[in-house]
Amino acid sequence: MDLSKHQKFLIGNYAQPALEIVRGEGSWLWDSSGKKYLDFASGIAVTNLGHSHSHWVENVQHQAAELVHCSNLFSIPQQVSLAERLVKKMGPGKVLFCNSGAEANEALIKLSRLYGNQASRKRSKVLVATNGFHGRTLGALSATESLKYRQGFEPLLPGFVFCHYNNLSDFEQSIDEDTVAILVESIQGEGGLQVATNEFLTGLQILCAKHDLLFLMDEVQAGIARTGEFLGYQKSGAQPHAVAMAKGLGGGFPIGAIWVNEQHAELFTPGSHGTTYGGSPLACTAAHAVLDVIEAENLIEQARTTGKNFKIELQELAAQFPQKVKEVKGRGLMLGLGLSFEPPSLVSHLRENGLITVGAAGNTLRLLPPLTVKNNEIAEALEIIKSGLAHFK
Ligand SMILES: Cc1ncc(COP(=O)(O)O)c(C=O)c1O
Repeated sequence: MDLSKHQKFLIGNYAQPALEIVRGEGSWLWDSSGKKYLDFASGIAVTNLGHSHSHWVENVQHQAAELVHCSNLFSIPQQVSLAERLVKKMGPGKVLFCNSGAEANEALIKLSRLYGNQASRKRSKVLVATNGFHGRTLGALSATESLKYRQGFEPLLPGFVFCHYNNLSDFEQSIDEDTVAILVESIQGEGGLQVATNEFLTGLQILCAKHDLLFLMDEVQAGIARTGEFLGYQKSGAQPHAVAMAKGLGGGFPIGAIWVNEQHAELFTPGSHGTTYGGSPLACTAAHAVLDVIEAENLIEQARTTGKNFKIELQELAAQFPQKVKEVKGRGLMLGLGLSFEPPSLVSHLRENGLITVGAAGNTLRLLPPLTVKNNEIAEALEIIKSGLAHFK
């Protein structure tokens, strides 16, 4: 594997990679030397069906030969039917398509601007959570607390107020006459797998109703069946006004979307927002194939039950290494180990032993297998993690 050209021709905004990946099938990835790896990162919560699922591949191949792109100058039947399908899962409302998680959050932030600019008394402040992550575009980055992402990109957009996650009174006390919206994740992915309590999310809904705020959920990482619900917030019974989705929605093909409830769906008017590629025939076909497989293979239930068992096994493993594993975090197949040390050395060690994982804030080792993962693959991953933990003194 010669990675020297990687550094020579690619801008160095990512850490130097250790592997060159060339093929995937199910829960497995192969590097260019032919070595195979169990993929418990799923391209950071994207390839929820595993790699190269036959239904997804057939549909994408067929659509690529039929029509890839035509722009939003036209009605795209796959886009309309995908929006209809999402509305059925999320409640009465409408959908706007884009290409990524950051773009979906930008659309939510712009929705809050439209809402706040409606009245004679303008409001624009958005309450967001400490430790949250909403993407790298300037708006989404401004809503993201961590200095690690923000540093060097100042000045960022003003008007985002950081409140402690899962601390309802902190949010309540931060509301003032300029506040227009609250934006949070149901499970903080990059932030280290903190799970929002049901009371926190239903409490935010009540606060939003009381103060006439938009209640916005970022489901980019936790969404699309990963946590054992179609969207992570659905477990709480809370009902947001608008939701951002991406990652798992396309199963690897870039697509993002926002769903907005009926009452607020008309805030965007012709010409007010757009993207050349958003909701292309190919992207929407990929997303349809993802939803087909989630339904046909019962992947919501699968994420719930497999995740529950995996979490128990991880807790048993954690009990064997109490000095190294402080806690097991997350829900469904969005799980993580809270370590007593920084994860990169363990991530490398696991990779060298055939298991791909990904770190997160708070010394967290994230485990995001495909929702189609088999029990024997989980058992194999557990063995690799066990010997990895044993390896570190
Ligand atoms: C919760 C959340 N929101 C937004 C994003 C940004 O998504 P993208 O990288 O597709 O722009 C991410 C990516 O990790 C995320 O986890």
